[in-house]
Amino acid sequence: MNLEPQPRSRLIVALDFDSAAPALRFAEKVADVVGMFKVGSQLFTAEGPGILGKIAALGTGIFLDLKYHDIPNTVAGAVMAATGLPGLQLVNVHALGGLEMMKAAAQAISATQPLDADRPRLLAVTILTSMDHKAMRETGIAGPPQERVVKLARLARKAGVDGVVASVNEARAIRKACGDKFLIITPGVRPKEAGARKKKDDQARTATPLEAMKAGADYIVVGRPITAADNPRAAAQAILDEMGEA
Ligand code: C5P
Repeated sequence: MNLEPQPRSRLIVALDFDSAAPALRFAEKVADVVGMFKVGSQLFTAEGPGILGKIAALGTGIFLDLKYHDIPNTVAGAVMAATGLPGLQLVNVHALGGLEMMKAAAQAISATQPLDADRPRLLAVTILTSMDHKAMRETGIAGPPQERVVKLARLARKAGVDGVVASVNEARAIRKACGDKFLIITPGVRPKEAGARKKKDDQARTATPLEAMKAGADYIVVGRPITAADNPRAAAQAILDEMGEA
């Protein structure tokens, strides 16, 4: 998987739909302006793995965002099963599952692929972008988000994980700590326009597409600003334009 410089290949659109029909109707409309589709727990739970083949048939890669968080043996098995799914380019675990769990996942992903193959990449979710400092404290995670996220990113790198999911706020610090080759994927991205309207949703640590690019994100994940737009293609295109300004 090579990172192409065009904004399009760096835009991942979250298919957070409750069933296949609306997800595919939407995906067909925007497939040629996005780099990858993200299938998360909502669509995967409703439709099962069969949905991946239908999405992959549109010609885009897939980020399977199931955020595995379990004992190492179970997570390794899940990651191994995921590598057999059509179109898979990215799959993830929770960094809070710990070093041994992430190591098991990293080994599982390499074990299933020939040495030089363009294998799917493994990511670790650091701290959900919907959590702010207060929400973190409530779960017993002490310290400012950036400090926690960078610590988890270092741990993921040590485990052999290819990159992390984090907010734009932490991207620069992660890049500094983990180097140029480490992938940084940032959700919680809200276009300039939406930011100006200050429409509130569940994301807490947000930034614009341009800020994400400037902070060194390799990919941005965008859901509702595109899926809930009156004109999803135009919304995606506006985000690509904003990314291109970087
Ligand atoms: O609609 P919105 O743009 O907020 O969607 C963001 C997507 O990224 C959702 O599918 C969410 O599950 C996912 N995500 C996130 N924060 C993370 C990891 C994944 O928001 N840390």
